[in-house]
Amino acid sequence: LQNGLARTPPMGWNSWNFFACNINETVIKETADALISTGLANLGYTYVNIDDCWSKVTRDAKGQMVPDPKTFNSGIKALADYVHSKGLKLGIYSDAGKFTCQVRPGSIFHEKEDAMSFASWDVDYLKYDNCFNLGIEPKKRYPPMRDALNATGRSIFYSICEWGVDDPALWAGKVGNSWRTTEDINDTWVSMTNIADLNDKWAAYAGPGGWNDPDMLEVGNGGMTYKEYRSHFSIWALIKAPLLIGCDIRNMTAETKEILSNQEVIAVNQDPLGVQGRKVHSNGTDGCQQVWAGPLSGNSLSVVLWNRCMQAATITAEWNVIGLEAGTSVSVRDLWQHEVVLNNAVTSFSAQLDAHDCRMYVLTPQAALMGNVM
Ligand code: DGJ
Repeated sequence: LQNGLARTPPMGWNSWNFFACNINETVIKETADALISTGLANLGYTYVNIDDCWSKVTRDAKGQMVPDPKTFNSGIKALADYVHSKGLKLGIYSDAGKFTCQVRPGSIFHEKEDAMSFASWDVDYLKYDNCFNLGIEPKKRYPPMRDALNATGRSIFYSICEWGVDDPALWAGKVGNSWRTTEDINDTWVSMTNIADLNDKWAAYAGPGGWNDPDMLEVGNGGMTYKEYRSHFSIWALIKAPLLIGCDIRNMTAETKEILSNQEVIAVNQDPLGVQGRKVHSNGTDGCQQVWAGPLSGNSLSVVLWNRCMQAATITAEWNVIGLEAGTSVSVRDLWQHEVVLNNAVTSFSAQLDAHDCRMYVLTPQAALMGNVM
């Protein structure tokens, strides 16, 4: 959606993956504080997004949505003020149906008044879910909220969360700033790898203003190993996914923080060219030895070597496979080791990878080796 937002994929935090319905204004405020104190906000994680369960089960006498008085007693406006005072942005959640998935009021047929409420609370982002949708097709249910948000005059990021039903990549580019391409992620290797593959199909449709959304990060929630989480984060960055942290950042381990704070990996995600990287090669049992790649601005390229096999493997990125002309000379920088590991590479490079591990690189064109020889 060309509404001036989402020139690069959104970055921030969302309450659902870790907290589910166990949210309240203290958790949201403490998370905002933690984004600042951990340095994550400085790295670009600025959206603080409240998911399902913030609202009261019924609308008020005037038909307005009301924050749950037991958990959000100070109201959403006060929370937005708090979050804004830290230089962050606030996101909220509703549903393109009669109820949200946790059976709070949905916004279908209330788009205008709800968009007005969100804008009057100074909300910056809306995630719009797909439960209790009355069997009406998404193409009909999602545009009214786009128009209602637009009519408020406030810039509000519009996140379409309809789980990939009816191939949103084909139509949502004019409707939202991101669209989910799959069902919900869960904190397992199987879920994460499946989603990466399903989302890959839609790579051509992503770009500045509108992104494929393979769902939020599970990094730090405990169901995967360090190597698996590093793969999850590297691939999400390369495929220009929204980087919405889904763990309790008030209590992160050093490893979780290290993964989420990798500035070089984040820079790939936030590269201004905005082209989604793709799976360009697979080999071995069930294609478990994989190469993913995508272009960056300045004629650079990012490459992920991803070993999805059950045992160690050597994976090679050949120039013709990653989209480099034969003989092009590049430097190869490893974004997890934080160093250039090869200079003047001209045909391919390889790495030995443990099971479920990955390496992520930026390849930058260099003057050809021959040109440097006197
Ligand atoms: C389904 C969505 O896909 C999830 O991300 C989350 O928002 C839940 N609904 C909340 O009920």
